Amino acid sequence: MKDDATIWISGTMHNIFSVGQILNELGFKILNVITWEKSNPPPNFSCRYFTFSTEQIIWARKSDKVPHYFNYELMKKLNADKQMKDVWKLPAIAPWEKSCGKHPTQKPLSVLTRLILASTKPNAWILDPFAGSSTTGIAANLANRRYLGIDQEEEFLTISKNRKIENPKTSATYRQKTGGFNDKKELELFLVEEPRTEYKTELNLDNKMGNQPNI
Ligand SMILES: C[S@@+](CC[C@H](N)C(=O)[O-])C[C@H]1O[C@@H](n2cnc3c(N)ncnc32)[C@H](O)[C@@H]1O
Repeated sequence: MKDDATIWISGTMHNIFSVGQILNELGFKILNVITWEKSNPPPNFSCRYFTFSTEQIIWARKSDKVPHYFNYELMKKLNADKQMKDVWKLPAIAPWEKSCGKHPTQKPLSVLTRLILASTKPNAWILDPFAGSSTTGIAANLANRRYLGIDQEEEFLTISKNRKIENPKTSATYRQKTGGFNDKKELELFLVEEPRTEYKTELNLDNKMGNQPNI
C-alpha cells in the first residue's frame, strides 16, 4: 500500500475484533468502524438468537502520520445534506446482482460503491486480494477507478469475468440499479462531476519500489 492509502476490511462479530487487534499491532490507524445494517436480513431459523442483520467494515489508514483522503462533501450530499453517519442502512444483495453466477458471500454493489467514492479519487488503483465475484472491481470501474483482483478459486474468477462491466449496456444497468443514492440518476451525476484527471497513478509490477496500488 502507498503511505496515504486506506484499507477496508469487512467482517462479522465472529472475526472483526481479531482483525481490529491485528491492525493495531501493525501500526494502522483505525478511522471508522462502519456498521452496515441490512434493511432486509435473512431470518434466523434457529430462533435462539437475535436476527443477524449487520456487518462491520473497518476503515483504517496505513500510517498514523500521513493524512488520508475522505470525500466528506459527497457523503454529505448522499445523506440529504447532513453528515453521513457510520451506520449505513442498505439492502442485502439483490437477485439481479447474482445474474452471472452465485458467490456465497457476494457483497452488494451499493456498499462497495459508497466506500470507494468516500475514500478514493478518480483513476485510483484499488486492490482486492479476496476478490470473490469482483464486486469491488465492478464498483471501482463504474466509478472510473482502476482495479486489481485476486482470488484462489477459479470458479469465482469466472463469475467475475461474466459480470462483463465493459459492455456499455451492462454498466448502464449496474449504474441505474446500484442503490444507496437518492434517485436513479444520482450516481451518474456524481461521476460526471468528479474531476477525472486529478489523480494519476501507474501500476508498475516490475518495479518493487514503484507506485503501489491503493487499497
Ligand atoms: C468474502 S469472499 C469475497 C466476496 C466478494 N467481496 C464479492 O462481493 O464477491 C472472500 C474470497 O476470498 C477468497 N480467498 C480466501 N482465501 C484466499 C487466499 N488465501 N488467497 C486468495 N483468495 C482467497 C475466497 O475464495 C473468496 O472468494
